[in-house]
Formats: sequence, structure tokens, C-alpha cells
Amino acid sequence: MMGMKKSEVYDLLNLAEDYLQDGFRRERPPLSRDSEAVNDPASPPTPEQVLARIAEQVAGCTRCSLHRERSHTVPGEGATAPLVIVIGEGPGADEDRSGRPFVGRAGQYLDRWLAAVGLDRRSNCFIGNIVKCRPPGNRDPLPEESAACLPYLERQIAVLRPRAILAVGRIATQILCGRSEGIGQLRSMELEYRGIPVVATYHPSAVLRNTELRAPVWEDLKRLQALPVLRA
Ligand code: URA
Repeated sequence: MMGMKKSEVYDLLNLAEDYLQDGFRRERPPLSRDSEAVNDPASPPTPEQVLARIAEQVAGCTRCSLHRERSHTVPGEGATAPLVIVIGEGPGADEDRSGRPFVGRAGQYLDRWLAAVGLDRRSNCFIGNIVKCRPPGNRDPLPEESAACLPYLERQIAVLRPRAILAVGRIATQILCGRSEGIGQLRSMELEYRGIPVVATYHPSAVLRNTELRAPVWEDLKRLQALPVLRA
């Protein structure tokens, strides 16, 4: 393991754990988006089962100090064959209380953005975060906290196989795409995560504070909607 990044080591440990417990295979044949979950015990676990396993592991996670002050972990929620995954930074107070992502004021605003482009968390969208436990006082996650938690999100993305990703805010975009630019620059770039197009925009909390950001967010949402992978 010498020379490996911390997140790569966690990733390997996770794969080994999944393999031992579920026989999870990352490389699985493409599923039709409309196909029913396969109930044959000899077949690989369904996305629902893998997501439930990840949520269980997150619930017991003590990899970083964020676990000490959490009330609930927030693994993410939504459609299990989503067109889009929305990725934020980390849970706030409302999310920590409820165990659900983006349920506070910013979350309700985000739901309105998604509805404007035909997306919602019940039918075609999954909503997750870089870190699954609330950073105290809503501070930015520390690099070691993001590194410890990122493998959970990576596994969620691997099993959900979205056509596109909407990253909201600088932190989510930087960490997911390994960039260091500010969000103003990131949103004008063609980004991708492991071959999946990533559209970056401002965080809904920032737009609630500064209404001048509404117009650029609308441009970004239209850019997302116009992606060829979403029009197919
Ligand atoms: N902000 C985030 O980035 N994520 C949430 O889940 C809630 C607020």
C-alpha cells in the first residue's frame, strides 16, 4: 500500500469488505434502466442492496472525527437508476437531525431548481454529499474528512451509474473533480468524473444569500438539461 493515496487505500478496503460480505462486483453487465431487480440469489446484489450496505457502513463509520458530534449520518437518497446525481458538500443542521440530504431551506430551493429541469429525487435523481456527517458549525470539511468519506460516494456513483452529475458549490466540485479553481471558474469548465459529465454550479445556500447568482445557476441548469447524455 506504499505510495497509495489515503482515499485509494480506503477504496481497496471497502471493495474487500463488500466482496467478503456481499460478493459485490464493481464490473457488472449494463442494466437496462427499466429492468427489474434480479432476485436470483446467485446474481450480484441489486443497486438497492449495495446502497443499503453502504448506508449501513456509513451509519457505523468512525473513520474521521466528524462521527463524534453527529446525530445522524446522511448517506444520500433518491432514485436507484438516476439520470443525475446531485452532490453537495455535507449535511447541515436539518440534515443531521433527519438523516436526509438537502431537507433544509437550501434543500427545498434545490428541489425547485431540479423541478425546473424535469428532475426530482423521487423518480430520476439521487442526492448525496462529499461527507456524510455534519461538520460542526457548517464549516468546510477538512481534507482528511473528505478523503475518509469520499470512497462511500465513489461506490454510490459506481453502482448508480448516472448519466450526469450536478455538483453544487466549490467544495463538492473541487473534491469530486480534483480541481482547485473557484466555483466561478469551475462552472465554465467542461468537467468529468470517471467519464461522467459534471456540471458545476453555485451552492443553493450561496444563491439564497446572493440573488445575483440566480441567473448563472439557471444557465448551468440549462447546460445540464442540454447534455447529449440526458437527451438520448
Ligand atoms: N448543504 C449540503 O451541501 N448538503 C446538504 O445535504 C445540505 C446542505
